[in-house]
Amino acid sequence: MTDRQASSATGPLDLETYWMPFTGNREFKSNPRMISAADGVHFITPDGRRILDGLSGLWCCGAGHNRREIADAIAGQARTLDYAPAFQFGHPKAFELASRIRGFMPEGLERVFFVNSGSEAADTSLKIARAYWRQKGMPTKTRFIGRAKGYHGVNFGGIAVGGIGPNRKLFGSTVESDHLSHTLLPENRFTRGQPVHGAHLADELEELVALHDASNIAAVIVEPFAGSAGVIPPPKGYLERLRAICDKHQILLIFDEVITGFGRSGARTGAERFGVTPDIANFAKQITNGAVPLGAVVVRRDIYDTFMEQGGPGYAVEFPHGYTYSGHPLACAAGLAALDIFEQEDLPGQVAAKEGFFEDCIHGLANHPHVLDVRNFGFAGALTLESIPGEPARRPYEIAMYCWQRGLYVRYGGDTLQFGPAFVMEKSDIAEIFNIVGDALRAAA
Ligand SMILES: Cc1ncc(COP(=O)(O)O)c(C=O)c1O
Repeated sequence: MTDRQASSATGPLDLETYWMPFTGNREFKSNPRMISAADGVHFITPDGRRILDGLSGLWCCGAGHNRREIADAIAGQARTLDYAPAFQFGHPKAFELASRIRGFMPEGLERVFFVNSGSEAADTSLKIARAYWRQKGMPTKTRFIGRAKGYHGVNFGGIAVGGIGPNRKLFGSTVESDHLSHTLLPENRFTRGQPVHGAHLADELEELVALHDASNIAAVIVEPFAGSAGVIPPPKGYLERLRAICDKHQILLIFDEVITGFGRSGARTGAERFGVTPDIANFAKQITNGAVPLGAVVVRRDIYDTFMEQGGPGYAVEFPHGYTYSGHPLACAAGLAALDIFEQEDLPGQVAAKEGFFEDCIHGLANHPHVLDVRNFGFAGALTLESIPGEPARRPYEIAMYCWQRGLYVRYGGDTLQFGPAFVMEKSDIAEIFNIVGDALRAAA
């Protein structure tokens, strides 16, 4: 069986009915790339080909696929308590996981709200920020400041603060927001890790405060390093300046750590690695190692306390927000098992130990055809490719298709190729990723 003749165990697959997310549906359905199993750092296709996973799924499977400990925990939980109401009643594993997550946070981030995705984390954090200021008697603080090229998922709040045009233009206007410039500067091209130029771009926040007035601004939201726009590490000193300006004007700082959190930065959080603590931090991708959807919004204790103090009688709901599947028992069981692995195998330490090798490999492509820039941080990296005139996204797509044929999955988006190996990946597999990509660049028209 070939990819083109996609079929399941019960016969030919109906490819038309499923409307695939963030996918060129017409292209995919004429050239399906099916994944039917996984093993460690490889995917397996229905015809048995092993495909090296160059992005840990979608940045979420850092411990490698199909971890038995996680699978057993999910199966055991499904047999014991498949679901418990998330509102007004509780189940122990949600509390256990919240405490566990708190233990991975920088000092001060102490209360954990569960969601199911990074998009829900984004919108939840924005709602917490607005409601917090209202509770503090400052109800005009409603505006948000995001950053160009920022990605905060696809819900209405997230696309409003996000800075990726194509993700916004179809959907009309959303919540009030403004944006800082991105930090992708030409003088920083081919920098290894954090660039030296660009900390001054944080000062734009002062200009936005002058324009909107701090009394109208609830929060600034940024990814510690931008991921989906093609791995843009923060210039040295940039996050520190943002933190200082937020403090000066009583503006909450939200870190969207959906990619940077839980290992990818070579630390437990991006906040820890960069030494800057936000007021609110959003997580999702790595907590359950991708096995069951789960995200978390972690806030300063006094933010939580404000809601409790202003919440009216004890039986009243202090924060009218949440999801049917917030803290789902299967997700919590998966999260606890995944965090055991995270600690026992010291996944952030593994990243820190191998990130130099990863950096050498990706920067080894700097002189290859079509490469305009190479960026990396921790176990995240990207290439910016020279566009084919009039078709900016085509070359990365074609290169990714070449890689797929050669047994490598890489993510392509805009004019970039993105890499995020599993934290447990051997150096030989990391080298293999970039050997194949090197061949693909040389073969590309
Ligand atoms: C920083 C960031 N925030 C939010 C999201 C959205 O996460 P989800 O796709 O789980 O909604 C992503 C996904 O890539 C992300 O990278």
